Amino acid sequence: MKTLVIFYSRTGNTRKVADEIAKVFGCDTEELADTKKRAGILHYLSSGRDAQKEMLTTLVEPKNDPSKYDLVVIGTPVWASKMSVPVRAYLHLKKDSFKKVAFFYTAGSQNDKIFPDMSKVCGKTPVATLGLSAAEIRKGDSAQKIKEFLEKL
Ligand SMILES: Cc1cc2nc3c(=O)[nH]c(=O)nc-3n(C[C@H](O)[C@H](O)[C@H](O)COP(=O)(O)O)c2cc1C
Repeated sequence: MKTLVIFYSRTGNTRKVADEIAKVFGCDTEELADTKKRAGILHYLSSGRDAQKEMLTTLVEPKNDPSKYDLVVIGTPVWASKMSVPVRAYLHLKKDSFKKVAFFYTAGSQNDKIFPDMSKVCGKTPVATLGLSAAEIRKGDSAQKIKEFLEKL
């Protein structure tokens, strides 16, 4: 199965999980790049506000065409209890290109609204989902959950 892992990461947690998934699959991976600045405390606050309002953003055009893949695994950090703005923009942009999707998030704490929202935006039910806390990732406690997620794909 041809798989693409696509994700946004502001501070590296989501990237770490994406890299682990891509390593197991030996598949293509791509990090979304936002044209809007997100680093630093001021942009932290504006990013939270943007996410809360479900705003979109202009992405640097992604290189990989998701329609060429059987499965696209999409990862986002949680911002203000929502998916991150770049991932929302990506789902809006590419929603007609996906065959199968799987979702994962990283967050300070558990969130049960992200996956239904991601599903609604792209019009697809995920074949698998994975939510990880930043603490689990930092402590290296995420391997078992990632394994269980991968087994469902
Ligand atoms: C703007 C902003 C808002 C956030 N809001 C939440 C939140 O509502 N709930 C939560 O659990 N974590 C929240 N977080 C924490 C991130 O989801 C968490 O640290 C995540 O792992 C960051 O992923 P990254 O390192 O890939 O950017 C927020 C982080 C940012 C930058």
